[in-house]
Amino acid sequence: METIFKLGGPQYLKGKRIVTLFYEPSTRTRMSFEMAASYLGGVVAFSSDNAGEFSSAKKGETFEDTIRVINCYRPHVIVIRYNHEIGAELAARVSRAPIINAGDRVPGQHPTQSLLDLLTLQKRFGKIDGLKIAMVGDLKNGRTVRSLSYLLGKFNDVKIHFISPSSTRMGEDVKEYLGRHGVWVSESTDLREVAGQVDVVYQTRTQTECGASLDRSDRSLGYFTVDGNVADSMQDHAIIMHPLPRIDEITPDVDANHRSVYLTAQVESGLITRMALLKMILE
Ligand code: CP
Repeated sequence: METIFKLGGPQYLKGKRIVTLFYEPSTRTRMSFEMAASYLGGVVAFSSDNAGEFSSAKKGETFEDTIRVINCYRPHVIVIRYNHEIGAELAARVSRAPIINAGDRVPGQHPTQSLLDLLTLQKRFGKIDGLKIAMVGDLKNGRTVRSLSYLLGKFNDVKIHFISPSSTRMGEDVKEYLGRHGVWVSESTDLREVAGQVDVVYQTRTQTECGASLDRSDRSLGYFTVDGNVADSMQDHAIIMHPLPRIDEITPDVDANHRSVYLTAQVESGLITRMALLKMILE
């Protein structure tokens, strides 16, 4: 997929109709799915980035009826971000076309994000086994870190440091899952104490739309910002990831640090992963 992205190649999705139905805002996920379809010769037959407002959901139509109606137009796949935790599951129950979950309402899942995160790690380190990862920030509401944790549980000797204020600690369901899968886990409140020990700092945004808040200047809560000092304290081979959008949790001076991949390789991995996913599902 990377070769096709950079040099062009087989149009695996020629004649395939893709629908993207987003009830929550998105820049990367929707655009990369649509670009992925385009790179492979598919057609984005319908696309909505605020489906709750710009569809008959606004008039009271149920989500399931919307999916049933879309199916009558015979799309080959429907990519959904729904503002309900089990939106993709609800859709899959009534849809003939395959459903791809492009993000559930919190505290849910964002499975394609975690696939692209794994690709980013695999390309950088050549392996996932044995990696030490610090996940930082709003771990309670962040669906990306929840999904990434689930996937990391499938590898060996992974160590995860969860670093968050006490108000946004990682959910017990994820920690219980990691415990069952033999993943070493720690919880703390000061990123500076672990930044130099890990291969990856995975920073996240505070999900203010879910009611979460974090005063980064309040040192009684801990330390959760990736700034130039934190970045420079990391090992030379280590990387800094973020699913984006970034607000103030990574300071702009870190962008040029050689460890930063959140605005480069990680974004590119999103496109490549979604190209591969569409090809796998539609073939
Ligand atoms: N990472 C991510 O899901 O970004 P968007 O919300 O912009 O799609």
